[in-house]
Amino acid sequence: MAGSSSSSIQSPLRSPPRISRGLRTLSFSSFSRTRAISVRSAPVGRIGICCALSDQILPRIASSSAPVMEPTREAASRVSTVVDVNLGDRSYPIYIGPGLLDVPDLLQRHVVGKRVLVVTNTTIAPLYLERVVEALTHGNSNVSVESVILPDGEKYKNMETLMKVFDKAIESRMDRRCTFVALGGGVIGDMCGFAAATYVRGVNFIQIPTTLMAQVDSSVGGKTGINHPLAKNMIGAFYQPQCVLVDTDTLNTLPDRELASGIAEVIKYGLIRDAEFFEWQEKNMEALLARDSSALAYAIKRSCENKAEVVSLDEKESGLRATLNLGHTFGHAIEAGFGYGQWLHGEAVAAGMVMAVDMSHRLGWIDDTIVERVHNILRRAKLPISPPEMMTVELFKTAIAVDKKVADGLLRLILLKGPLGGCVFTGNYDRKALDETLLAFSKSR
Ligand SMILES: NC(=O)c1ccc[n+]([C@@H]2O[C@H](COP(=O)([O-])OP(=O)(O)OC[C@H]3O[C@@H](n4cnc5c(N)ncnc54)[C@H](O)[C@@H]3O)[C@@H](O)[C@H]2O)c1
Ligand SMILES: [Zn+2]
Repeated sequence: MAGSSSSSIQSPLRSPPRISRGLRTLSFSSFSRTRAISVRSAPVGRIGICCALSDQILPRIASSSAPVMEPTREAASRVSTVVDVNLGDRSYPIYIGPGLLDVPDLLQRHVVGKRVLVVTNTTIAPLYLERVVEALTHGNSNVSVESVILPDGEKYKNMETLMKVFDKAIESRMDRRCTFVALGGGVIGDMCGFAAATYVRGVNFIQIPTTLMAQVDSSVGGKTGINHPLAKNMIGAFYQPQCVLVDTDTLNTLPDRELASGIAEVIKYGLIRDAEFFEWQEKNMEALLARDSSALAYAIKRSCENKAEVVSLDEKESGLRATLNLGHTFGHAIEAGFGYGQWLHGEAVAAGMVMAVDMSHRLGWIDDTIVERVHNILRRAKLPISPPEMMTVELFKTAIAVDKKVADGLLRLILLKGPLGGCVFTGNYDRKALDETLLAFSKSR
């Protein structure tokens, strides 16, 4: 029996053909541009100029609240790549490169007011807080920086921990002209962003992502929020940062398991809209796992380009943006069912993508080779290809019932369709295929 229909959204913007670049020759000296984003490459003497094409179609407008300043030549030369997220007056740059935490100008130009609150956690603070405070204050004695150090972990991404941010902001007499800085992975970024969106109804906000997951996904696009015990990321806001500063050197301290978790989202971009990027990953997975800096930088850049493009076209997720959630309905069910923090987000998403791929295959929408390639690449990335054993059909169904993609009682899913790199977001599928997939990947009760 076919489910009742809802609009089916084909991922419309495929990336333009790109020449695959081997590791040895990989450099940022080439220009890569798409309709909605622009990427500028080092060395750049002047940041802030986009190509004529992207200017004409979606002009890069300096953010209204950030001081419009050019970075110094020295600062600009340290940035390997800048990817712009084009959202009219909420546009912002993503700076990507090694050593960017030591370039004060990049951060300082996006600070509003004289008060800064850095939100971080007990793991990241000893590693990077001092450098960030130095970058914020270097040559700028007008600015005073406070910090709040939260407990580390997905299980603390909740209302109680969020209150600690507000407590610190109020105690420190932060007013509307202050800046919140998220220093950490996706948990800190999501929580700090939500705090910035709601504290005195919205304050200036900067993202400094320090996990691969945050650098390729969560720091970009403005989704912020916290978990509810019954459903992940259920309470939140769309709130864009003033800039995202990706210092690729921070990945040197990241545990292997966390690195692999971020790679799950990198693989996702290939599957939903960028077949060439997926093929590049098939050739370079070992280099990514070995933390080859060129390979990582390319993966971050390409992921940010894909995300920026989707977000620029559909900021509030009326359709296209939902495709970024491939595997997430099943993945979120695993995270909530197994207990937040048991499996990393990327691990749950990996198993969830395998389930979405299985269902797409049952529906006859993709051929066997895609299924095999997905299994292979996830195995090579040391990611799971099935949910934890304790997951039952019942647990999946309970979590799915409160999924944000349920509309009028109908679960819409992101499923692969056609050749590699194509997907649909749809509620128009045979329910039997969903039941069969759930049964195939979990205990029957
Ligand atoms: N907002 C979005 O669009 C979006 C997208 C994807 C994921 N997310 C959210 O992001 C969260 C997952 O993010 P995550 O994977 O970054 O997890 P995380 O924030 O929990 O970080 C993972 C671990 O790595 C540690 N860590 C961070 N940076 C480090 C570094 N440089 N060196 C050593 N340790 C470091 C953290 O303290 C933590 O223990 C989830 O809550 C997920 O829902 C949000
Ligand atoms: Zn995700």
